[in-house]
Amino acid sequence: MAWLLARICFPKKVPRGKFSSCQTRAWSRGTVTAYMPEATAFPGSRDHQGLYQVSVEQTDAFWGVLGRSRLTWINPFHTVSYSDLQQGHVSWFLGGQLNVAVNCLDRHVHKAPEKVALVWEKDEPGQEDRITYRELLEMTCRLGNTMRRQGVKKGDRVTIYMPSCPMAVASMLACARIGAIHTVVFAGFSSAALADRIQDAQSETVITVNQGLRGGKVVPLKETVDQAVKLCPTVKRVFVSKRTDEKVPLSDLDIPLEEEMMKEDVACEPVAMESEDFLFLLYTSGSTGKPKGLVHSQAGYLLYAALTHKYVFDYHDGDVFGCVADIGWITGHSYVVYGPLCNGGTTILFESTPVYPNPGRYWETVERLKINQLYAAPTAIRLLLRYGDDWVKKYDRSSLKVLGSVGEPINTEAWEWYFNVVGDGRCPVIDTWWQTETGGICIAPRPSNPGEEILPSMAMRPFFGIRPSLLDGKGAVLTQNDVSGALCISQIWPGMARTIYNDHQRFLETYLTPYPGHFFTGDGAYRTSKGYYQLTGRLDDVINISGHRLGTAEIEEVVNKHGAVAESAVIGCPHEIKGEGAYVFIVLKKCSNLSQESLTSELQGLVSNEIAKYAAPEYIQVARRLPKTRSGKIMRRVLKKIIENKADELGDLTTLDDHEAVKEIIEGHKQLLQKKQVQQA
Ligand code: WTA
Repeated sequence: MAWLLARICFPKKVPRGKFSSCQTRAWSRGTVTAYMPEATAFPGSRDHQGLYQVSVEQTDAFWGVLGRSRLTWINPFHTVSYSDLQQGHVSWFLGGQLNVAVNCLDRHVHKAPEKVALVWEKDEPGQEDRITYRELLEMTCRLGNTMRRQGVKKGDRVTIYMPSCPMAVASMLACARIGAIHTVVFAGFSSAALADRIQDAQSETVITVNQGLRGGKVVPLKETVDQAVKLCPTVKRVFVSKRTDEKVPLSDLDIPLEEEMMKEDVACEPVAMESEDFLFLLYTSGSTGKPKGLVHSQAGYLLYAALTHKYVFDYHDGDVFGCVADIGWITGHSYVVYGPLCNGGTTILFESTPVYPNPGRYWETVERLKINQLYAAPTAIRLLLRYGDDWVKKYDRSSLKVLGSVGEPINTEAWEWYFNVVGDGRCPVIDTWWQTETGGICIAPRPSNPGEEILPSMAMRPFFGIRPSLLDGKGAVLTQNDVSGALCISQIWPGMARTIYNDHQRFLETYLTPYPGHFFTGDGAYRTSKGYYQLTGRLDDVINISGHRLGTAEIEEVVNKHGAVAESAVIGCPHEIKGEGAYVFIVLKKCSNLSQESLTSELQGLVSNEIAKYAAPEYIQVARRLPKTRSGKIMRRVLKKIIENKADELGDLTTLDDHEAVKEIIEGHKQLLQKKQVQQA
């Protein structure tokens, strides 16, 4: 574990400024039960803190009560939780049967069929579509029936490659209704990345659209699927929905979705699913080249998404919830689809970009749709900040109550701009920390508890049922405050991923064996003197570009495919807007005489085509040799220091095999930066 300690470098800094909604006040018994009606089951809990204590000390009692009251069951559960962390077996709500689509749709249709479930903010500016709970249920049922008729069965994997649109949400829910396992692949991924994910999941079914629209541009999604499917012999059918009026050529595998759906009934019998049946797989990057399909199961995931949505954002009935994440990421799953719909809320489906048709897009949408909670990524906030305050101030943002941030650390400047300019100093800004693995938000300030202080750029407090710990390089739990360590979660919670699809061993090795008895998040954190958590970045070889995780090994694998490249090392470098970018060091094969310009554009093109556009490297530096230990391992920390311009802090170099190579790389880096500056000027 010593390697971990060596890599933890934590800023022990509490940022400037602070938001406090009002003075902390004592809660009455009435307040606590209005806040959480289930509190009557825990007479000792007087306020949020009291409820938190119950949630971590009487875990089964807490989640048992919540599981019964917040979810609708076909058959009740008999055991709240079971865990064997050594084997990586975690189960919640055993013996219970339910259907997630019924929880997200039918039960709300019974109460308020005409309530708006989805507001689809289309790519085309100013054009929204409102879909009621009744309409969404009908769509879901027709789609479920269509899939069933075409042979999709319980337990089958269905790959969804679609932009954020109602048909994509209906596809997810239709899978849940018939017991199929969906795996949404972000529609910005290349055909190669899509094919990898289809193959890993062994999907027989793909759902896509003829074309996507993004920032006013047509994206040929069906074409990408065609290329991917050629590499995937398991695929038996591709449902093609119509997002645009353009006709695209259909092959033998293709089934026009809307045409088939119109032939089907608007009722579709939901399957009774066991709590621990798989609900979905979602691929995310790790520190090896192969993305991992994290598995979430039914009841625990749904309950956790719904509860965090309600309490982290202080969501109330009638609010319009605006999470602008794409449905291809976990944020889209938990806070566009499952959390809000389980709570019977109205949720925005944002299909466009923050700058289309201009940098006022978010704020115009807030005004027109009267959004109450906005949940966005720091990379978008930083980008919009650059365009100045006028784009924001032009629009009425008085509907806003809470502003959320997710995906990466939000720097103080962006936090303060979000708070002061976007929220006019009225709305709490909440920096929410979580991961694909955690299913829902784990650490976040809590505006639902009035009076609690919120400090800039800090995720601060654990959610109900979350017991965070910081561990040192030797694996010991650090008990005091004002310390930094590896962030772990030290008891199970309902939203946690259950395994990696077809690779339980990797699940154990990545999350459970590094610190036995704890779930290791891969992130480092600092606990302030007041006990608040501040995230300090990844401890593994994962970089975070615009809030999207990428393993450096994934990029290296693609770069190494280039005919001229003998060897490469990819390191994350700071980027003003994206947070991090990829900096690629390469050693060329002897015979190569490519110019730096052609090499750069070829490698950027290769990474865009093989992974996704956002992964394209910022810098490509050619080196004669990479710094290695005598045993041949690339010394990444040395490269990291060089690109952070800290060449005088390279640390212990006793194992370095070629000191000359490092000097050359330092020089090469300086030249590359100068060249880039000249180009930008
Ligand atoms: C990072 C996104 C700092 C972190 C929900 C985590 C954050 C990874 C924050 C998960 C935050 C996410 N502050 N870092 N508020 N939120 N991260 O799986 O490194 O796409 O492990 O889930 O993003 O990314 P993922």
